[in-house]
Amino acid sequence: MLILGIETSCDDTGIAIVKVFGKQKPIFEILSNIVSSQIKTHAPFGGVVPNLAAREHLKNIEPCLRQAFREAKIKPEQIDLIAATIGPGLIPSLLIGVNFAKALAYAWKKPIIGINHIEAHILANWLENPEGIKFPAIALVVSGGHTQLVLMTPQKKSKIFSGASYKIIGETRDDAAGECFDKVAKLLGLGYPGGPVIAAKAAESRIWNPESRIRLPRPMIKHKNYDFSFSGLKTAVLYLIKPPKQIYHNFSDRIKNDINIIPELCHETQQAIIDVLMDKTLRAAKEYKAKTIILSGGVAANEELRKQFTSNIKHQTSSIKFLVPPKNLCMDNGAMIAMAGYYNYKAGKKTSWRKIKADANLRLGN
Ligand code: KG4
Ligand code: ZN
Repeated sequence: MLILGIETSCDDTGIAIVKVFGKQKPIFEILSNIVSSQIKTHAPFGGVVPNLAAREHLKNIEPCLRQAFREAKIKPEQIDLIAATIGPGLIPSLLIGVNFAKALAYAWKKPIIGINHIEAHILANWLENPEGIKFPAIALVVSGGHTQLVLMTPQKKSKIFSGASYKIIGETRDDAAGECFDKVAKLLGLGYPGGPVIAAKAAESRIWNPESRIRLPRPMIKHKNYDFSFSGLKTAVLYLIKPPKQIYHNFSDRIKNDINIIPELCHETQQAIIDVLMDKTLRAAKEYKAKTIILSGGVAANEELRKQFTSNIKHQTSSIKFLVPPKNLCMDNGAMIAMAGYYNYKAGKKTSWRKIKADANLRLGN
């Protein structure tokens, strides 16, 4: 089976062609996975500007499609299914991909499936583990737009996985984890996207003077629920670098004089985010007796996050399996949409191009 995956929920235009073999155990082969990034367009603003994103998608989507077919060495008539992200995301961006996919489905007379972007991030983990995932599972989705803890149970009591039932057990009340990386990087003048630059600067942090060490809050870490809040973390960094009433004047002196201050701030920001994400995820895994912990979304590309999750899960329990996709599949891409297309197709969810609609606030599990 050949699936065309189309992703335009935010600022990456992603088009992929994925081949699925095998009847009982699907084996996915990514024939092409083209991602056109808009970093240069949004970098001057320190974040994604929705209308500029839509304009770029419109410009790039057709060349990406051509390239995807060229690299995969197949023709449109060989495609069996079109899968396109319908939400959640930025509506101007989503509309470009959804309408493009609908036009292709109409012109090529192909079945089409609308995909939930969050589900696709989670299912990116199935590439290397098509059926070896044990339930219940706790999935942490951390990206630029979303931070959600999701409880996954199998949809049917069948040996062959064909999608899961999802229940959101916690989510951010304000900024997403990736958004916090992006906003802190903007405050520190480090550029966009913030995650990779903060991670790189954090790795340079050398001097560790416990006396003057910066300590940022771990928001909501002590709350019993599984919700998150990251906007206060960004504000704490803002107050350190631009103190409102001299309360942090000793830090502002350090900011002027200490060359390690930016790496140290980046290190502490990254660690504060990791601490909260890890604490809540491990707690949820314990409460729901999870057999698998799944990490996904753009922030899951963070090396420290991957390392600390791996070692903590191993340390705390030997019975929970930990999964995280390869880094290129953590970021937005069309291959994860095609894979989600496969499982939704298996679950009988294909539809007509007439019924597909973009939904900026689409939620998992309802
Ligand atoms: O999943 P994604 O590509 O797009 C959304 O669905 O939002 O995630 C993008 C987010 C950005 O906020 C970016 O700063 C963050 O993922 N990110 C990282 C890293 N690479 C990307 N955050 C932390 N560390 C990284 N290495
Ligand atoms: Zn995403």
